[in-house]
Amino acid sequence: MDHYYSENPTTEHRIAQIEYSLGDINLKFTTDSGVFSKDKVDYGTNVLLRSLPPIDGRILDLGCGYGPIGITLARLNPSAEITMIDINQRAVDLAKINIEQNGVKNARVLQSNGFENLEGTFNAIISNPPIRTGKKVIYSLFEESIQYLENGGSIYLVIQKKQGAKSAMEKLNEIYGNCRAINKKGGYWILHSVKV
Ligand SMILES: C[S@@+](CC[C@H](N)C(=O)[O-])C[C@H]1O[C@@H](n2cnc3c(N)ncnc32)[C@H](O)[C@@H]1O
Repeated sequence: MDHYYSENPTTEHRIAQIEYSLGDINLKFTTDSGVFSKDKVDYGTNVLLRSLPPIDGRILDLGCGYGPIGITLARLNPSAEITMIDINQRAVDLAKINIEQNGVKNARVLQSNGFENLEGTFNAIISNPPIRTGKKVIYSLFEESIQYLENGGSIYLVIQKKQGAKSAMEKLNEIYGNCRAINKKGGYWILHSVKV
Protein backbone atom coordinates (compact mmCIF):
# COMPACT_ATOMS: atom_id res chain seq x y z
CA MET A 1 0.00 0.00 0.00
CA ASP A 2 1.16 3.56 -0.74
CA HIS A 3 1.97 5.98 2.07
CA TYR A 4 3.22 9.54 1.78
CA TYR A 5 6.60 8.08 2.68
CA SER A 6 6.64 5.36 -0.03
CA GLU A 7 9.84 5.41 -2.06
CA ASN A 8 7.92 5.26 -5.34
CA PRO A 9 4.22 5.98 -4.94
CA THR A 10 2.04 4.33 -7.57
CA THR A 11 -1.17 6.25 -6.77
CA GLU A 12 -2.70 7.86 -9.84
CA HIS A 13 -1.38 11.41 -10.36
CA ARG A 14 -3.54 14.37 -9.30
CA ILE A 15 -1.42 17.39 -10.01
CA ALA A 16 -2.55 20.57 -8.27
CA GLN A 17 -1.28 24.09 -7.61
CA ILE A 18 -1.44 25.60 -4.15
CA GLU A 19 -0.33 28.94 -2.76
CA TYR A 20 1.48 29.87 0.42
CA SER A 21 2.52 33.22 1.86
CA LEU A 22 4.77 34.20 4.71
CA GLY A 23 5.38 37.91 5.28
CA ASP A 24 5.86 39.41 1.84
CA ILE A 25 6.95 36.12 0.30
CA ASN A 26 4.34 34.53 -1.97
CA LEU A 27 4.95 31.02 -3.26
CA LYS A 28 3.20 28.63 -5.63
CA PHE A 29 3.67 24.91 -5.15
CA THR A 30 2.87 22.08 -7.52
CA THR A 31 1.61 19.08 -5.54
CA ASP A 32 0.35 15.61 -6.39
CA SER A 33 -1.31 12.59 -4.83
CA GLY A 34 1.07 10.32 -2.94
CA VAL A 35 2.82 13.17 -1.11
CA PHE A 36 2.24 14.68 2.34
CA SER A 37 -0.35 17.47 2.73
CA LYS A 38 -0.97 17.94 -0.99
CA ASP A 39 -4.03 20.23 -0.68
CA LYS A 40 -2.46 22.97 1.42
CA VAL A 41 0.69 23.65 3.40
CA ASP A 42 0.35 21.59 6.59
CA TYR A 43 -0.72 23.43 9.76
CA GLY A 44 2.32 22.21 11.69
CA THR A 45 4.69 23.17 8.85
CA ASN A 46 3.19 26.67 8.86
CA VAL A 47 3.62 26.98 12.67
CA LEU A 48 7.22 25.77 12.33
CA LEU A 49 8.06 28.28 9.57
CA ARG A 50 6.54 31.14 11.59
CA SER A 51 8.48 30.15 14.75
CA LEU A 52 12.00 30.01 13.30
CA PRO A 53 14.53 32.77 13.96
CA PRO A 54 16.50 34.01 10.92
CA ILE A 55 18.92 31.21 10.00
CA ASP A 56 21.88 31.40 7.67
CA GLY A 57 24.53 28.98 6.42
CA ARG A 58 23.99 25.40 5.33
CA ILE A 59 20.46 24.26 6.12
CA LEU A 60 19.01 20.76 5.74
CA ASP A 61 15.28 20.24 5.16
CA LEU A 62 14.89 16.62 6.32
CA GLY A 63 11.84 14.99 4.69
CA CYS A 64 11.12 17.91 2.39
CA GLY A 65 7.95 16.60 0.68
CA TYR A 66 7.08 18.94 -2.23
CA GLY A 67 9.32 21.55 -0.60
CA PRO A 68 7.41 24.08 1.53
CA ILE A 69 10.04 24.33 4.29
CA GLY A 70 13.22 24.40 2.19
CA ILE A 71 11.81 26.69 -0.48
CA THR A 72 10.34 29.18 2.00
CA LEU A 73 13.64 29.26 3.93
CA ALA A 74 15.60 29.72 0.70
CA ARG A 75 13.46 32.75 -0.20
CA LEU A 76 13.64 34.17 3.34
CA ASN A 77 17.42 33.75 3.55
CA PRO A 78 18.93 34.31 0.09
CA SER A 79 22.46 33.81 1.39
CA ALA A 80 21.65 30.44 2.99
CA GLU A 81 22.41 27.22 1.13
CA ILE A 82 19.51 24.79 1.41
CA THR A 83 19.67 21.02 0.91
CA MET A 84 16.36 19.21 0.76
CA ILE A 85 16.00 15.43 1.00
CA ASP A 86 13.14 12.97 0.88
CA ILE A 87 12.77 9.22 0.51
CA ASN A 88 9.75 9.67 -1.77
CA GLN A 89 10.86 10.12 -5.41
CA ARG A 90 7.56 11.77 -6.37
CA ALA A 91 8.10 14.36 -3.61
CA VAL A 92 11.68 14.93 -4.79
CA ASP A 93 10.50 15.51 -8.39
CA LEU A 94 7.87 17.99 -7.17
CA ALA A 95 10.40 19.81 -4.97
CA LYS A 96 12.62 20.22 -8.07
CA ILE A 97 9.71 21.73 -10.02
CA ASN A 98 8.88 24.00 -7.07
CA ILE A 99 12.45 25.25 -6.71
CA GLU A 100 12.31 26.30 -10.39
CA GLN A 101 8.78 27.66 -10.30
CA ASN A 102 9.60 29.93 -7.35
CA GLY A 103 12.83 31.24 -8.86
CA VAL A 104 14.95 29.75 -6.07
CA LYS A 105 18.69 29.57 -6.79
CA ASN A 106 20.03 28.59 -3.35
CA ALA A 107 18.34 25.19 -2.84
CA ARG A 108 18.91 21.69 -4.19
CA VAL A 109 17.02 18.47 -3.62
CA LEU A 110 18.03 14.83 -3.56
CA GLN A 111 16.40 11.49 -2.92
CA SER A 112 17.73 9.94 0.27
CA ASN A 113 16.59 7.45 2.87
CA GLY A 114 17.45 9.39 6.00
CA PHE A 115 20.94 10.87 5.77
CA GLU A 116 22.38 8.13 3.54
CA ASN A 117 23.07 10.21 0.40
CA LEU A 118 24.31 13.30 2.23
CA GLU A 119 27.82 14.62 2.56
CA GLY A 120 29.13 17.26 4.92
CA THR A 121 27.58 19.00 7.88
CA PHE A 122 24.94 21.66 8.38
CA ASN A 123 24.36 24.74 10.52
CA ALA A 124 20.72 23.79 10.98
CA ILE A 125 18.39 20.86 10.36
CA ILE A 126 14.70 21.68 10.04
CA SER A 127 11.98 19.05 9.82
CA ASN A 128 8.35 18.19 10.03
CA PRO A 129 9.37 14.57 10.66
CA PRO A 130 7.54 11.52 9.28
CA ILE A 131 5.80 10.58 12.53
CA ARG A 132 3.69 7.96 10.76
CA THR A 133 6.77 5.87 9.98
CA GLY A 134 6.87 5.09 13.73
CA LYS A 135 9.04 5.94 16.72
CA LYS A 136 11.82 3.56 15.68
CA VAL A 137 12.44 5.37 12.37
CA ILE A 138 12.12 8.92 13.65
CA TYR A 139 14.18 8.32 16.79
CA SER A 140 16.98 6.85 14.69
CA LEU A 141 16.79 9.96 12.45
CA PHE A 142 17.10 12.10 15.63
CA GLU A 143 20.06 10.00 16.81
CA GLU A 144 21.87 10.35 13.48
CA SER A 145 21.06 14.06 13.12
CA ILE A 146 23.71 15.20 15.62
CA GLN A 147 26.53 13.88 13.41
CA TYR A 148 25.31 16.08 10.56
CA LEU A 149 25.38 19.31 12.56
CA GLU A 150 28.29 21.69 13.06
CA ASN A 151 29.11 22.52 16.66
CA GLY A 152 26.67 25.23 17.69
CA GLY A 153 24.21 24.03 15.01
CA SER A 154 20.50 23.71 15.70
CA ILE A 155 17.75 21.23 15.00
CA TYR A 156 14.16 22.48 14.84
CA LEU A 157 11.24 20.05 14.67
CA VAL A 158 7.47 20.33 14.70
CA ILE A 159 5.60 17.54 16.45
CA GLN A 160 1.97 17.33 17.45
CA LYS A 161 1.41 17.01 21.20
CA LYS A 162 -0.88 14.02 20.68
CA GLN A 163 1.68 12.36 18.39
CA GLY A 164 4.35 12.24 21.07
CA ALA A 165 5.89 15.73 21.31
CA LYS A 166 6.71 15.21 24.98
CA SER A 167 8.55 11.91 24.50
CA ALA A 168 10.33 13.33 21.41
CA MET A 169 11.49 16.18 23.65
CA GLU A 170 12.88 13.66 26.15
CA LYS A 171 14.62 11.75 23.35
CA LEU A 172 16.21 14.95 22.00
CA ASN A 173 17.30 15.87 25.54
CA GLU A 174 18.99 12.48 25.80
CA ILE A 175 20.81 12.95 22.46
CA TYR A 176 21.67 16.67 22.61
CA GLY A 177 21.64 17.34 26.36
CA ASN A 178 19.13 20.13 25.77
CA CYS A 179 15.71 20.64 24.20
CA ARG A 180 13.30 23.52 24.49
CA ALA A 181 9.82 24.06 23.08
CA ILE A 182 10.16 27.48 21.44
CA ASN A 183 6.48 27.62 20.51
CA LYS A 184 3.27 25.69 21.17
CA LYS A 185 0.31 26.42 18.96
CA GLY A 186 -2.87 24.53 18.11
CA GLY A 187 -1.52 21.33 19.67
CA TYR A 188 1.80 21.55 17.77
CA TRP A 189 5.10 21.95 19.59
CA ILE A 190 8.19 23.44 17.99
CA LEU A 191 11.24 21.75 19.50
CA HIS A 192 14.76 23.17 19.41
CA SER A 193 18.04 21.48 20.39
CA VAL A 194 21.57 22.78 19.96
CA LYS A 195 24.72 20.73 19.37
CA VAL A 196 27.03 22.02 22.11
C1 LIG B 1 5.41 15.04 7.64
S1 LIG B 1 6.06 14.97 6.01
C2 LIG B 1 6.68 16.62 5.81
C3 LIG B 1 6.84 17.01 4.36
C4 LIG B 1 7.19 18.49 4.14
N1 LIG B 1 8.42 18.83 4.80
C5 LIG B 1 6.06 19.40 4.61
O1 LIG B 1 6.27 20.08 5.62
O2 LIG B 1 5.00 19.40 3.97
C6 LIG B 1 7.51 13.98 6.24
C7 LIG B 1 8.30 13.67 4.97
O3 LIG B 1 9.39 12.79 5.33
C8 LIG B 1 9.59 11.88 4.27
N2 LIG B 1 10.26 10.68 4.79
C9 LIG B 1 9.72 9.61 5.42
N3 LIG B 1 10.66 8.72 5.75
C10 LIG B 1 11.83 9.23 5.32
C11 LIG B 1 13.17 8.77 5.35
N4 LIG B 1 13.50 7.61 5.91
N5 LIG B 1 14.14 9.54 4.80
C12 LIG B 1 13.83 10.74 4.22
N6 LIG B 1 12.56 11.22 4.16
C13 LIG B 1 11.59 10.49 4.71
C14 LIG B 1 8.19 11.60 3.74
O4 LIG B 1 8.23 11.09 2.43
C15 LIG B 1 7.53 12.97 3.86
O5 LIG B 1 7.64 13.72 2.68
